[in-house]
Amino acid sequence: MSDTFYITTPIYYVNDMPHIGHIYTTVMADAFARYQRLKGKKVTFLTGTDEHGQKIEKAASSQGIRPIELADRVVARYHDLWKLLNISHDDFIRTSEDRHKKAVAAIIERITAAGDIYKGEYEGWYDSRDEAFVPDSQVKDGVDTESGNPVERLSESSYFFRLSAFQDRLLEWYRANPECIRPKSRYNEVLRFVEGGLKDLSISRTSLSWGVPYPGDEDHVVYVWLDALTNYISALGFGSDDETRYDEFWPASLHLVGKDILRFHCVYWPAFLMSAGLPLPDQVFGHGWWLQDDAKMSKSVGNVVRPDHLIHRFGADALRFFVAREMSFGQDANFSDEAFLERYNADLANSLGNTASRTTAMMTRYLGGLVPQPTDEGPVPEAAAVAVEKYIQHMDALEPNRALEAAWQLLATIDVFLQERQPWNLAKNGDDGKAELDSVLYAALEGLRIASILAEPFIPGIAAELRAQLGAGELPLDMNGATRWGGLPAGTRLGEAQPLFPRVDIKAYLKEAEQENEKKAEAAAIAAGDLITIDDFAKVKLKVGLVKSAEPVPKSKKLMKVMVDIGEGEPRQLVAGIGERYSPADLVGRRIVVVANLQPTKLMGVESRGMLLAASIDGAPYLLSADDEVPPGTGVK
Ligand code: MSP
Repeated sequence: MSDTFYITTPIYYVNDMPHIGHIYTTVMADAFARYQRLKGKKVTFLTGTDEHGQKIEKAASSQGIRPIELADRVVARYHDLWKLLNISHDDFIRTSEDRHKKAVAAIIERITAAGDIYKGEYEGWYDSRDEAFVPDSQVKDGVDTESGNPVERLSESSYFFRLSAFQDRLLEWYRANPECIRPKSRYNEVLRFVEGGLKDLSISRTSLSWGVPYPGDEDHVVYVWLDALTNYISALGFGSDDETRYDEFWPASLHLVGKDILRFHCVYWPAFLMSAGLPLPDQVFGHGWWLQDDAKMSKSVGNVVRPDHLIHRFGADALRFFVAREMSFGQDANFSDEAFLERYNADLANSLGNTASRTTAMMTRYLGGLVPQPTDEGPVPEAAAVAVEKYIQHMDALEPNRALEAAWQLLATIDVFLQERQPWNLAKNGDDGKAELDSVLYAALEGLRIASILAEPFIPGIAAELRAQLGAGELPLDMNGATRWGGLPAGTRLGEAQPLFPRVDIKAYLKEAEQENEKKAEAAAIAAGDLITIDDFAKVKLKVGLVKSAEPVPKSKKLMKVMVDIGEGEPRQLVAGIGERYSPADLVGRRIVVVANLQPTKLMGVESRGMLLAASIDGAPYLLSADDEVPPGTGVK
């Protein structure tokens, strides 16, 4: 078995800010990278950004900046986010870097030498306003469904990769390596697709300037996927003067991607590599999607997705844990605040946080914070051994959610064990209970230490904090430390106890989340230009009115019939819901503001020919007034 492990995330487009989907892939890749490091592997973990192409060019020009400026901005966001989330990548590749351009040129040279590239005509739907080709799938009745622009059939000169010639070789590769694409359902999907036949692939454009220059033909730039996929070897120095890292780490152990881009990684990429005579990756894993029901998001409590907020409020590890534990790796899952909070309270605040804080508190109270010498630790050592074994099996099989489940079973065993043995009662028995008390607390401490190693790939920050609290901060951090019971030496002094994950009041949080979301939606509507013009406002005729008389509408608690002079000779009759705060005597003689051009309506059978203006506090009306010297009928603007 190789002692190296090379894992990659997709490189993310820079026309979009990072969101939960990008976070997910990167967090999972980070967990696998950390796990392989715990196993003693020499790991390279790569992430980065995909900066070329028409979408980025367009996004930049709409903001009035150059593409590289847009890329720099978004890259800064990614760096900040990965730092905040404790992502342990070893390298960050940007396709705008020279090292990448060199690698792209190098792979194209090899593919050309193999005779798999020819020059031809690319024909497609062209949008002359945006000066770009639009994918067939995006065109309906001669219009680009995304931009609404008309499109026409046009062709341009393009280099093509002879993908059609790779069908048999690809099928052979899939069949000889049934694990090369996972999960199995996606393997089958790709197989079916390739069995259906492959078309040659356009790999260059003349209608685009923001890209890697095509080697030897300055009219062309390399088209997106050949450029993007090559990042996995350019980051290792492929095509540079020093290819030692490439030699050491290629082929990749695992390309982790979302299912949306599986085909590119399982069809195009291996075909490019085959043509170039380079080794193929060991495995591509296509995970599922996080779904959110947009329509419900702002309205219904419990479905308000705010990853930034979750990180700031609950910490990076809480979000990392949730996404890893909640999603069955490979399938889709729904992201909701409610699910997040429930897992947070159950698994983090309770199973982990509470078990740890009870143990350390009892250690301080009963044993002065010094790790005791055990004699019989009950069922915990066995439970730990089982948990570690299952955990390793599941991590190796890329079932991270199940690995976490196994680790949490150990915590459950510790919890039940403490309930059963009741150290608080043993402590009351003086010397008689001492040996058992020592053993019980040792078992809990040692079990927690092992759990902290299993948790490390997922919640590295809190795992380190827990280890420090247990007095295990200085012990080597690796899988050997998890497989060996008794690693925590007697006599060790515990660190300072701190709550790891304080419990959350779910109802209160969700209410607060909903309110904030409504505010955001309002602000977004304004930011999106959802504003009215002065002409819109001028349609509303507002006038100062003098209240002549007022009386309650029969059988109504709230409604009041009000006669108001608005300078028309005859007073206007209005019906207003102000009866709970104002009596007729409060109203008569008052100068108020009236909407004079509202369509008449009937309220409880009484006609109302306008509306008076009032501020509303929790539904209670507070009338707007005008100064005494303003004559009735004066316009309000
Ligand atoms: N630039 C290409 C990838 C090139 S790789 C050589 C790209 N970029 S992207 O910014 O659109 O990122 C796509 C990836 O983000 C997906 O493959 C997936 O890993 C992740 N996700 C984006 N949205 C997602 C969800 N809603 N759920 C889970 N992950 C998804 O495609």
